[in-house]
Amino acid sequence: MNRRNTLKILGGGFIVSAAVLGGAGAMVATRNPKTARLPWEKAGGYTEIRHIALSYALLAANPHNRQPWIVELVGNDTVHLWKDKTRLLHATDPYGRQINIGLGCFLEQMVLASKAHGYDAALDVFPNGEDGPVATAVFNKGAMRDPLFDYILERRSCKKSYEDRPISLEQVAKLTPYADVVIESNKVAAVKKITWDAHVIEAITPRTWKESVDLMRLGVKEVDANPDGISLTGGLMEIMTSTGILTREGSLDTQSTGFKEGMKMFHRLLHATPAYAYLTSKGNTPKDQIAVGRQWARLNLKTTEMGLSLHPVSQALQEYPEMDGQYRHIHDLLAKPGETVQMLGRLGYGPETPQSPRWPLEAKLKNG
Ligand SMILES: Cc1cc2nc3c(=O)[nH]c(=O)nc-3n(C[C@H](O)[C@H](O)[C@H](O)COP(=O)(O)O)c2cc1C
Repeated sequence: MNRRNTLKILGGGFIVSAAVLGGAGAMVATRNPKTARLPWEKAGGYTEIRHIALSYALLAANPHNRQPWIVELVGNDTVHLWKDKTRLLHATDPYGRQINIGLGCFLEQMVLASKAHGYDAALDVFPNGEDGPVATAVFNKGAMRDPLFDYILERRSCKKSYEDRPISLEQVAKLTPYADVVIESNKVAAVKKITWDAHVIEAITPRTWKESVDLMRLGVKEVDANPDGISLTGGLMEIMTSTGILTREGSLDTQSTGFKEGMKMFHRLLHATPAYAYLTSKGNTPKDQIAVGRQWARLNLKTTEMGLSLHPVSQALQEYPEMDGQYRHIHDLLAKPGETVQMLGRLGYGPETPQSPRWPLEAKLKNG
């Protein structure tokens, strides 16, 4: 094969012929979404405290970027947060545990933003049980600023390979109030094996893999039209989607070169991990899950402050039959009897990561 026609492995782990790329590359390689990241710029750009707090809340981490929140403004000082039941992840999150964690992340960022603007947002979680709102918040003047607020705009889930650089004991000590941290090499290796084995199970189980593939937004047009889910943008992704090399149908075929190269990419990045952070809980009620989400948001803001990257890797924590073995392994390794491992994240030094897409606040307000 000559150099021009050699198959090239691209950033996303897919393969494409250099000849196919041709001029298409130059046209689309630099395109970014036009509107999908605007909520990051608009955060705080409102006059009413509830809008201000909510504009930061919606930048929170949440599973598959489903953004499963609906907000109702009640009276002139209250917010009711509702779960958007059209945005659940039935295959990988059958009990809605991770969705609740994402809503907890939302609430924590709302409270932090509220405090930073001089208001306390008094929360009542599931005040009417699970059929009512996820939480109500009453905003009252008078609150202490929490410095973690300052990192909301910089926070990311960094889904790339991390540097081969250890986390120091001093850093572990700083993180201890926020999470448990794994740095011992044997234990890191054991967690790594579980995260990889669990990823393989998710990928070869048709209904769980399809759930992700259905949420893929291929290229900037799709991302701007639906700023949620798994967005595949950036130079090479644009080329592959615009030339039809990367498609939803192709991604479902586990025999395809694209699928196999994608798996190699995940193998690389999951293994380029020097440490893990994780959260466990004694109970596993929806209220406990909201509390875990609040903790995860704080952890992710703290790692941001410390210049560290964090990437949730949830596959082994998921509650569907094919995952039972890995679920047991990760619990045997990290949890005490009766506890639930609620969140597990890769921890280390990753590259700069762009903001992920968001629906604007206006799209999430039930009543203006
Ligand atoms: C409960 C929960 C589970 C998550 N699980 C995963 C995961 O397994 N793999 C992954 O790449 N990201 C995972 N994420 C991260 C989300 O994909 C991410 O928060 C979302 O895409 C928004 O991106 P951002 O956090 O960079 O703003 C998870 C996030 C939450 C809150």
